[in-house]
Amino acid sequence: MTTTGTGFDIRRIGGRIGAEILGVDASRALDPALVTEINSALLEHKALVFRDQRLDDEAQLRFAALFGELTTAHPTVPSVDGRPHILPVDGDEGIRANHWHTDVTFVRTPPKASTLRALVVPPYGGNTLIANSAAAYRDLPEPLRELADKLWAVHTNAYDYAAPKSEKAAEHRRQFVSRTYRTVHPVVRVHPETGERGLFIGGFAQSIVGLGPSDSRDLLRLFQSYVTRPENVVRVAWTPGDLVLFDNRATQHYAPDDYGDLPRLLHRVTVAGDVPAGVDGTLSRTVEGDDASHYTPAAA
Ligand code: SIN
Repeated sequence: MTTTGTGFDIRRIGGRIGAEILGVDASRALDPALVTEINSALLEHKALVFRDQRLDDEAQLRFAALFGELTTAHPTVPSVDGRPHILPVDGDEGIRANHWHTDVTFVRTPPKASTLRALVVPPYGGNTLIANSAAAYRDLPEPLRELADKLWAVHTNAYDYAAPKSEKAAEHRRQFVSRTYRTVHPVVRVHPETGERGLFIGGFAQSIVGLGPSDSRDLLRLFQSYVTRPENVVRVAWTPGDLVLFDNRATQHYAPDDYGDLPRLLHRVTVAGDVPAGVDGTLSRTVEGDDASHYTPAAA
């Protein structure tokens, strides 16, 4: 356990990713020095868990906004009624993120960070797995690291998803792909705050620039296998009231669909991010779709 200068404790919960923050009431106005220390903890541990917070929507929005301007809920999926910045992650509505991904990488400016707040959780299952994609990059043998450094991948929201299991899931899918986005990002992203390199791929990365479909698939699968190694993953088991903040520039996450028809509802609020840069400083570029300025202020 580490005690910070502003007096909260950091308890690591995974060897390579994840920490619980103890002694912070996220519903209160937080001192800028404390926010700076939380941000430092975020950069180091990638995923922070604040237990038993009991925030409402307003307080979640206020907390997320401490880390930067907010995005709207999603480029294509409707928000919570009357709350344009809150995405309902509602299992009953077919929103089950059981694929490894980094949030919204199909646009040019994916979010910097995401907050997830548990409102309703099943008595078992319904966890969220979060992986450290910078540790994954460091795990690559040097020849693979050198290869990855040079590659760019096309990320899109329109690809061959598994067949939806219900009419609600089918409707969610229709909304999800109602506008097509295609963006080229570096396979290795240099973190804008730390300079750390990380694999920037996940489920929306569907092909590698300059390679055919089968070489693309094989290479993405190989790199992805390093991200999802158990060593690089922390599993968050939710209790209502818990709040998680993760660095969307250096992680992927996965929500196992293992709770059947039991209700599960999280609210997600994301902080706008910048345009990713590769190891030579080249920036991501849009190849299809609008600039997502209705979604992120960073598009401007
Ligand atoms: C998400 O992809 O942001 C949702 C994660 C979750 O359902 O746990």
